[in-house]
Amino acid sequence: MDHFHYKEDELYAEDVALKNVADKYGTPAFIYSKATLERHAQAYINSFKSMDGLVCFSVKALSNIAVLKTLKNSGCGFDIVSGGELHRALLAGADPKKIIFSGVGKSKGEMVAGIENNILSFNVESEHELSRLSMVAAEMKKIAPVAIRFNPNVDAGVHEFTKTGRKSDKFGVSIEAAKDLIKKCSKSASLKLVGLTCHIGSQIMELKGFEDAAKQALELLIELDRLNINLDFIDMGGGLGVNYVGEETIQPFELIESYEKIFAGRNERLILEPGRSISANAGIMLTRVEYKKNDFLIVDAAMNDLLRPALYQAHHDVWPVRKTNNATSNVSLVGPICETGDFLAKNINIEGSEGDLFAVRTVGAYGFVMSSNYNSRPRAPEIMVDNDKFYLIRKREDYSSLTALEEGLDD
Ligand SMILES: Cc1ncc(COP(=O)(O)O)c(C=O)c1O
Repeated sequence: MDHFHYKEDELYAEDVALKNVADKYGTPAFIYSKATLERHAQAYINSFKSMDGLVCFSVKALSNIAVLKTLKNSGCGFDIVSGGELHRALLAGADPKKIIFSGVGKSKGEMVAGIENNILSFNVESEHELSRLSMVAAEMKKIAPVAIRFNPNVDAGVHEFTKTGRKSDKFGVSIEAAKDLIKKCSKSASLKLVGLTCHIGSQIMELKGFEDAAKQALELLIELDRLNINLDFIDMGGGLGVNYVGEETIQPFELIESYEKIFAGRNERLILEPGRSISANAGIMLTRVEYKKNDFLIVDAAMNDLLRPALYQAHHDVWPVRKTNNATSNVSLVGPICETGDFLAKNINIEGSEGDLFAVRTVGAYGFVMSSNYNSRPRAPEIMVDNDKFYLIRKREDYSSLTALEEGLDD
C-alpha cells in the first residue's frame, strides 16, 4: 500500500497536493512518500517471528541519502554494490555492521574501503574474488568477513535482464564450487567465513523460486554442520515483485514466513536485501504535457529520466494529477528525446492536452538512479513528502552541472 491518493479529484502524496509540488519545483520531478518508505520497511522488519532478521535495503534501487537516512531510522541496513554506494550509506549514517557488499566485480580499492569501514560482509561471487580479498586483507593486516554467494540455478522473475539465479548468469558460484570456497575460506588467516548468500533475480511474483533456493541453502548448511563450520547468517537476497499493472504480489510476511519454515530450528540470522519492494511504490514522477500531436502526448520527461520503459518495455501506470470527466482517448506518453524508443507509456486511455500534469507511478525503484544526461538534459530534482510538508532532497541540475566536469572550456 502506498500514500498516493485522490482528494476531490486532485492527486495527493500523503497530505500534499502534487500540483503544489509542481508549482514550486517544476517538472519533471521525482516525488517520494516518506510514510510509504517507512511502511514498506516495517512490513519486512515486523515479519520476522522465529528468526533474528536484518533487512538490508538494496541501495541500487534508490540511492538518495535522505531516503537512506529514512530507511536507516526505520531499522534497515544496506546492501551495496560499489564504493560509491558505500560512501552514500556511510553519509546516511549507516551502521557498518549492517552493510553487506554484493557484486561480481569488486575492485581492490572497494575491498580496502569495505575492510577499513568494518562492514558486516563481502558477498563473494568467485574464486578469484576470494583470492583477491584474502590478499587485500592480508596486506592490511586485517581479517575480511566473507559470505559465499551460491547460484541455485533457478529461473525466476519476469525479465531476461533481471534474472540472476540461473547457471548461465554471471552471478554466484555453483553449490559444488561454493563448498570449495567455504573450505578455502575457513583455512585462510585473513578471511572469516560469516555467511551464505544468494539472490535469484528481481520482480519475482511466485514463492517457488525463493523456496527452491532456500532449500538448497538449507542442504548446504546441514553439510557444513557435519564439517563443524558455523555461519552467522543466511542472506537470501532481494527480488520480491511489486504491483506495476495490478499484479498479485507476494507480501513480505509471506516470504519471511516461508523462509522461517524452511530454516526452522536453525540459529543463523536471516538477512534479506529488498530494493524494489520497499521503494518502487513510494515514488512517482511528475511530468507536464508540452504538446499533443496525433495520438502522442509529448511530455517534458523522457527516457533519460525514466529508462525502464525503453530498457525493459516496462509498464508504469499514469495518473492525471487532476481528474476530469472529459472523454479519454488512446494515446502514448512520449518524451522530447530523439529516439523512437523514448516513451513512458504506450497505448493508454487518458485525457490530456498542453499544460496538463501527470504522475507516472511506481518509479521509486530503478527510476532516478538510472537517469542520465542523454540529449544534454539536466536531471530532474528529487523531493520528499512528509505528511503535509515537502522538501527538496536533490536539486534540479542546470546547464552548468552538465558541463561542470568538462575540461578545456576556456581555450
Ligand atoms: C545482490 C542483489 N541484492 C538485492 C537486489 C535487490 O533486488 P530487488 O530490487 O528486486 O529487491 C539486487 C538487485 O538486482 C541484487 O543484485
